[in-house]
Amino acid sequence: MQKYEIPTGLDKYEFLRDLNVDLKHPLLWHFVPRLAPNTKKPMLSPDNLPHKPDFKMEQLFDNNPSYLELEIGSGKGGFLKDYALQNPEIQVLGTEWDYGCARFTARRLEKHQVSNARILRGDTFFILRDLVPDNCIDAAHMYFPDPWPKKRHQKNRLLRPDFLQEISRVLKPGKCKFYWGTYHQEYNEIALEHFAKHPGAKILEKNTASPTGGITTLFEQRFLQEGLPIYRSIIEFSK
Ligand SMILES: C[S@@+](CC[C@H](N)C(=O)[O-])C[C@H]1O[C@@H](n2cnc3c(N)ncnc32)[C@H](O)[C@@H]1O
Repeated sequence: MQKYEIPTGLDKYEFLRDLNVDLKHPLLWHFVPRLAPNTKKPMLSPDNLPHKPDFKMEQLFDNNPSYLELEIGSGKGGFLKDYALQNPEIQVLGTEWDYGCARFTARRLEKHQVSNARILRGDTFFILRDLVPDNCIDAAHMYFPDPWPKKRHQKNRLLRPDFLQEISRVLKPGKCKFYWGTYHQEYNEIALEHFAKHPGAKILEKNTASPTGGITTLFEQRFLQEGLPIYRSIIEFSK
């Protein structure tokens, strides 16, 4: 198992992705491309269409969660663990595409006996698009995503209009919050523009929000130590 990059030219081909529980860590699930036999190459979908496995949230959690929050790009899982412990009545699903970080998070959840969080390894865009059902998430958190500062890499940024469309689809009807934080000024400005243009999204707090639940993330602590400004916002999605 290895870290993989978002391929360029995604519109031209699709990978087959499978959902599997980790054999060593029951709180860790994988939704990653199926590899062609005896190779490290992902298998392409024969019809070039998204592969959407039959999936219900009960597969990940023991019951269908009545209140579920999503954390996108959990890193080493510090926020996921603290937030889940702070809110034992809710379920929290973290996503992370790096295998080492996802496994670290799973061990951390086990060590602290966190029963109301799961970590799902894979690219969040495809997790949302191909796996997560409509109307099942109560709030979403996205803290310090990779900023891809070089111009030619900016296409890899996750916070894009098509991603926000998926966010809207998976959030429950009514008003739901999206918590956003970054240290990267330019990515922040573009993200806030995307939020402002997205139908049904309203920026409630712009760049002035406090760490959610008082929990600062690992990357946030690093950036604070470097004296970088932190931009945290809260966006309300309504439908
Ligand atoms: C800069 S780190 C921040 C981690 C954590 N949120 C924090 O604030 O400490 C960004 C994390 O997002 C993960 N990541 C980046 N793109 C992702 C994607 N498309 N899906 C899932 N995880 C992603 C990276 O592997 C990395 O662990």
